[in-house]
Amino acid sequence: MLSSPIVLVLASVAFASKPSDSHAWQAPTAGQVRSPCPGLNTLANHGYIPRSGKGITITEIMDGAVAGFNVGNTSILQAAKFGLLSGLAFDTLDLDALALHNLVEHDASISRQDWALGDNLHFNETLFSVMANINPGSDFYTPETAAQVQKMRLDDSIARNPNVTNTDKEFQLRSRESSLYLSIFGNTSTGVAPKEFVNIFFREERLPIEEGWKRSEILITPDTMNDMEDFIVANSNWTQSQACEPLVIGPHSVI
Ligand code: HEM
Ligand SMILES: *[C@@H]1O[C@H](CO)[C@@H](O)[C@H](O)[C@H]1NC(C)=O
Ligand SMILES: *[C@@H]1O[C@H](CO)[C@@H](O)[C@H](O)[C@H]1NC(C)=O
Ligand SMILES: *[C@@H]1O[C@H](CO)[C@@H](O)[C@H](O)[C@H]1NC(C)=O
Ligand SMILES: *[C@@H]1O[C@H](CO)[C@@H](O)[C@H](O)[C@H]1NC(C)=O
Ligand SMILES: *[C@@H]1O[C@H](CO)[C@@H](O)[C@H](O)[C@H]1NC(C)=O
Repeated sequence: MLSSPIVLVLASVAFASKPSDSHAWQAPTAGQVRSPCPGLNTLANHGYIPRSGKGITITEIMDGAVAGFNVGNTSILQAAKFGLLSGLAFDTLDLDALALHNLVEHDASISRQDWALGDNLHFNETLFSVMANINPGSDFYTPETAAQVQKMRLDDSIARNPNVTNTDKEFQLRSRESSLYLSIFGNTSTGVAPKEFVNIFFREERLPIEEGWKRSEILITPDTMNDMEDFIVANSNWTQSQACEPLVIGPHSVI
């Protein structure tokens, strides 16, 4: 049986096609895990990082982010390194473990509930509707709408969550996350991004290729995001709820 030439040809075709993932979107199947991060989940749903969501290395995340989004390593390296602390493995992480509260996961998210209020892992349309309904009549999200959404989502958390954590750390993460979705799905210098693309990213954790999105030709780095991130920081009327210690997260001359 095994020596039949037809079986051998089929076997070698199957073997040859296995290493090159087609990067088609595929919802996670039973046993595959996902995170509170729409970015990592989208990369996994397209096979730019392991579709299992388990045992992922920092290098796989860095390579996947460039291949899928053209997001450069310095934009996400700190978050990825923090992510390792979500589990016991020395140099890999599982996506679902990233729901660990106050490691990278934070309150006042765009699309996930605060940890103290409920499910902080899965997409929540009720919360996301704040962003989806911002600036009606326009087809675009902008750094200005991103700042408004950050303010509205934080106001809601402060009103409803007596345990809200809102320090400079969370604010920096949230402003970086906003800059990432604006840059990936919009113009990397103006941060003007079609709502349709961003909504598909959040709701389906899918790259909106059929809808006309193209991967940025420009590598998305802290430098390219600098202006829009500064704008968001300056225009979200943010004040801290608690102080945190000064954050030492890398050699600042580099990142
Ligand atoms: C690959 C590029 C990435 C993109 C485009 C991206 C994008 C985003 C966005 C837009 C959010 C906000 C979700 C919301 O507020 O509802 C988010 C949240 C999150 N990201 Fe990512 N991210 C990326 C990489 C990473 C990395 C490397 C890690 C760590 C290993 C990470 C961990 C998280 C976590 C834990 C959250 C949840 C925070 C929360 O809302 O509570 N992300 N990300
Ligand atoms: C990170 O990206 C930069 C370009 O932005 C590149 O020069 C560098 O080699 C990358 N680092 C690693 C470890 O791949
Ligand atoms: C907030 O945390 C305190 C203790 O840290 C706890 O007693 C209380 O139940 C928490 N409240 C909520 C809404 O989770
Ligand atoms: C979504 O979030 C809202 C507001 O916190 C909450 O009332 C609702 O139960 C959540 N929905 C799901 C499906 O968890
Ligand atoms: C911030 O405050 C200013 C002045 O009160 C106001 O004009 C602006 O709309 C506020 N921005 C947000 C995002 O709430
Ligand atoms: C981004 O916007 C700038 C300023 O409006 C424009 O010059 C540039 O061509 C746009 N880039 C892309 C890729 O559309």
